[in-house]
Amino acid sequence: MMATGHRPVMLEEAVAALAPSNGDVIVDATFGGGGHSRLILEKLAPDGRVIGIDRDPEAAGRASDLLRDRRFSFRAGDFDEVLWALVDEGAWVDAVLFDLGLSSFQIDAVQRGFSYVNEGPLDMRMDPYAGISAAEFLNSVDESELVRVLINHGDVPRAEARRIAREIVRYRPLRTTKDLADVVRAAVGWKERGGNPSKRVFQAVRIHVNDEVRTLERALRATERLLVAGGRLAVISFHSGEDRVTKRFISEREGRCVCPPDLPVCVCGARPIFRRGAVLKPSQQEIEENPRSASARLRVAVRTAEPLEGHEDEG
Ligand SMILES: C[S@@+](CC[C@H](N)C(=O)[O-])C[C@H]1O[C@@H](n2cnc3c(N)ncnc32)[C@H](O)[C@@H]1O
Repeated sequence: MMATGHRPVMLEEAVAALAPSNGDVIVDATFGGGGHSRLILEKLAPDGRVIGIDRDPEAAGRASDLLRDRRFSFRAGDFDEVLWALVDEGAWVDAVLFDLGLSSFQIDAVQRGFSYVNEGPLDMRMDPYAGISAAEFLNSVDESELVRVLINHGDVPRAEARRIAREIVRYRPLRTTKDLADVVRAAVGWKERGGNPSKRVFQAVRIHVNDEVRTLERALRATERLLVAGGRLAVISFHSGEDRVTKRFISEREGRCVCPPDLPVCVCGARPIFRRGAVLKPSQQEIEENPRSASARLRVAVRTAEPLEGHEDEG
């Protein structure tokens, strides 16, 4: 199948949460096809800036037209590494967006190996030049470790995860996405309800291969150092695991502050680093027009003026 375009998810809601205005510096940590970056640029003044980041080498090509806008720059790489590089450079930013997961460009390109519907090589790396492919992982991993990955990153029920892991080990080496989908089907059968069981298995393997949980945790810790007081964090996630990371990160930092919300600095002793904002879902209309948006959750938080000294500090 030909690669198709990516429809930005929760575009208006996410950009409203980032509140770009005047000369703000905004980081789009997951550039993809640039849907969010383009709308942010429309809202900024001539002295504003957008820094786009993506670890998929193909995303850089999609950013090339935007590079004609002097306010836009693109940095290729893992968002945690790029964000920590910005911390080291002494940068300050007004808002950071994470629109997590895959773009439709990636899902629809069968040679990238993300699709459990179309056959392609079992790869699943967002950056195909880094780390090990899904096939290398599945063909060498311990059965018990695989069970853990399926449960933790795919929310696969334990008994099912055990059956799937056993079948994978029995049938390997696996080479294509169809090999994996066939093995999953052999292990747990086809369910009329609850969707294709391969969906969660592919998700779990993809999250593991791309080290998505730890990368997001490190990136969020860089973000709290980069944001100015009043700076906005917006995270769109597509499954409970990545949403849990963001939720935990924010709740660990909001303290139990009982100060009036208009006070810039906490005086009650709770010293919150972030104030929690809304948790939004896509509208019914968006879900109908773009079913891939259905599982999206947008979490928003605002950086307080509290310094980080005394709080946990690790890169
Ligand atoms: C859902 S898409 C973003 C779509 C984009 N907001 C748009 O409207 O076009 C997610 C993008 O983030 C990238 N990505 C995911 N994790 C990343 C990471 N750790 N570092 C850098 N880029 C990442 C993926 O390669 C993908 O292109």
